[in-house]
Amino acid sequence: MVHFRLGSTLLLTATCLLITKDVSTERVITCDDAYSVQRLSCETGVIIVQAALYGRADREICSEGKRPQQLTNTKCSQAGTVDVLKKRCDGKRVCELNTNVVRMSDPCSGIIKYLETNYTCFPANHLVVCEHSLGHLYCDIGQVIHVYGADFGRRDQTTCSYQRPTSQVQNQNVYCSSPTSKVAESCNGRNSCTISASNSVFGDPCVGTYKYLEVAYTCLYPQ
Ligand SMILES: *[C@@H]1O[C@H](CO)[C@@H](O)[C@H](O)[C@H]1NC(C)=O
Repeated sequence: MVHFRLGSTLLLTATCLLITKDVSTERVITCDDAYSVQRLSCETGVIIVQAALYGRADREICSEGKRPQQLTNTKCSQAGTVDVLKKRCDGKRVCELNTNVVRMSDPCSGIIKYLETNYTCFPANHLVVCEHSLGHLYCDIGQVIHVYGADFGRRDQTTCSYQRPTSQVQNQNVYCSSPTSKVAESCNGRNSCTISASNSVFGDPCVGTYKYLEVAYTCLYPQ
């Protein structure tokens, strides 16, 4: 289940065109605690989550100060964790989430758990356009736009939030991931493209939430 509409064929074609050594794999481990924050970030490119584990697969990780019996189960993992991470983080440059967000169940009670996420930084331009603004995608002369993914909605509390009423950007508003192919349809194959981040273009996936359009794209030489 890929939420940030990265069509697998599109991604495969694109990956073949890119130099694979540019795609680095990162791994972040966050010990579970009511207020632990996990931060994924890419210096260049966008986050694509590869794998995520909420549970325990190792005795040593996050074992400091814990009793041995709290570390015995190393085959503990919650189903669906990777989907939560992908929905929140794919296509972003930086993604912060609290372990509360992934803790949907207790896959092994009495065992100390952690969140481990593997992700790559996929080389792409990253564009965020706040609702009621226009976004401009462009490439160098001779190149054309290729959109990897686009999402119109809200996936965190901070993006496009400056002085907006709290009721439109608070925690209850961030479950509004709405992948769209409209940007690819209008922009692929063109040298530049302007797109409006508005309900009239994308529909309104979450009424009452102040939204933004997030796009990952690259520039290619047409074949
Ligand atoms: C992350 O990658 C490491 C190194 O390849 C691997 O050992 C680990 O199992 C991966 N984690 C998950 C959650 O798949």
